[in-house]
Amino acid sequence: MTTFIAVLYIISFALFIYGLMGLTGPRTAVRGNWIAAVGMGIAVIATLLTPGMSNWLLIALGVAIGVVVGVPSARKVKMTAMPQMVALFNGVGGGAVALIAWVEFRTTDGYAHEPAYVAIASLFAAIVGSISFWGSNIAFGKLQELISGRPITLGKLQQPVNALVLIAAVVLAVVIATGGDAELLMIGLLVAAGVLGVVVVLPIGGADMPVVISLLNALTGLSAAAMGLALDNTALIVAGMIVGASGSILTNLMAKAMNRSIPAIVAGGFGGGTAVASSGSGEVRPVRSTSASDTAIQMAYANKVVVVPGYGMAVAQAQHVVREMAKLLEAKGITVAYAIHPVAGRMPGHMNVLLAEADVPYEQLKEMDEINSEFAQTDVALVIGANDVTNPAAETDPGSPIYGMPILKVNHSRSVIVLKRSMSSGFAGIDNELFYDAKTSMLFGDAKSSVGEIVEELKAL
Ligand code: TAP
Repeated sequence: MTTFIAVLYIISFALFIYGLMGLTGPRTAVRGNWIAAVGMGIAVIATLLTPGMSNWLLIALGVAIGVVVGVPSARKVKMTAMPQMVALFNGVGGGAVALIAWVEFRTTDGYAHEPAYVAIASLFAAIVGSISFWGSNIAFGKLQELISGRPITLGKLQQPVNALVLIAAVVLAVVIATGGDAELLMIGLLVAAGVLGVVVVLPIGGADMPVVISLLNALTGLSAAAMGLALDNTALIVAGMIVGASGSILTNLMAKAMNRSIPAIVAGGFGGGTAVASSGSGEVRPVRSTSASDTAIQMAYANKVVVVPGYGMAVAQAQHVVREMAKLLEAKGITVAYAIHPVAGRMPGHMNVLLAEADVPYEQLKEMDEINSEFAQTDVALVIGANDVTNPAAETDPGSPIYGMPILKVNHSRSVIVLKRSMSSGFAGIDNELFYDAKTSMLFGDAKSSVGEIVEELKAL
């Protein structure tokens, strides 16, 4: 039976790796996801076959609760709410690892009688799992707007409190590893690590949440791998390491795209209240507004149009009508490209997913570095619900919270048309100089309706 279980585990993680390879491109992503899910199904079956498995009723109840809560929420979740769903699911993973460590502590009466590597791996898993669970819940609360997305700090007490709870968790771990078997020690360790997760994530602004979620995701993976080591469970080690490694790579890529170091992100403060949207500042600055018909005419006489999609396109679900508009422009001999910023929208690859859904050819999707050099030859940059990722303050204003973040240089185009509903700010909560630029016109309204009107105008031309 043990060999059979080992074979099942090997099949399962081979499927995880194969599935992950499918996730590297939109065409194969759904299939990749299914393959990894089958791998996970096999891993669960293998675990249930482990000798000594009992409490079937409890297991069935757990599976039933997981299915009832997980399946409908994953099916119903809107694309725009995906980051907080990832945060929640990731947190549950970390929480499960922390609970397993606790259960092991109870079953073995502390870790004193266990080999040192089991004690160390279990305590690491307990601390990191608990940090990940509570940190992810705070990230969920911020993205779901249950708590403020702005940094919530303890002021001067922040660093001492962070250090204190970290030291408390480490000291309790040392006491347990060296023979302490009182359950209160373990509970204290889980609480200290949980508080650490909360106090570290609360001061981080909403705009940095995707990076934080990715970081916590990597931590969950590492804690699961450590627990796999302690339990001698190969599938858990491999799956944990895959999550840990891919989460770390993604975290790095995202931090790079925002030109921020991971320690600077964890130190918090981004997206703070230093700047306000023009609508809220009381100061009214003039902007030039335009109409759908003028926009259509301007584009119809262009040689090259670059569509710059952002979060607002996702909210409006405008991708299909954008594609229709692009086809009409192409039929008139106009070159159309799409400028993709790595953190446009609210999750990695958000724009790619939406545009792939609307059958936009991949060749037309241009990464930031590639398209930035093309804006100077662009007649019209059509900014659809994007804001922060086009904000020149990232390059020109050292006082701006997004200073240093690479942006799509739409202001280098011959003209810019921005489609949004109002003068409200984007995710970082700051005003955008681009809207006041002499070559920018604003087309106010819901992106789907506005592009729909442009389509009608183009057809009539
Ligand atoms: P944002 O800066 O958030 O701007 C989106 C704009 O869309 C808003 O200013 C909003 O203005 C407009 N909008 C909303 N609904 C609309 C609708 N129905 N029709 C038309 N416009 C609409 O978006 P972005 O430029 O894509 O930048 C992304 C930001 O989110 C960055 O700060 C990034 O760091 C952060 N972030 C990114 C991720 C990832 S990984 N992609 C995850 C979380 C956060 P109105 O209200 O005036 O319409």
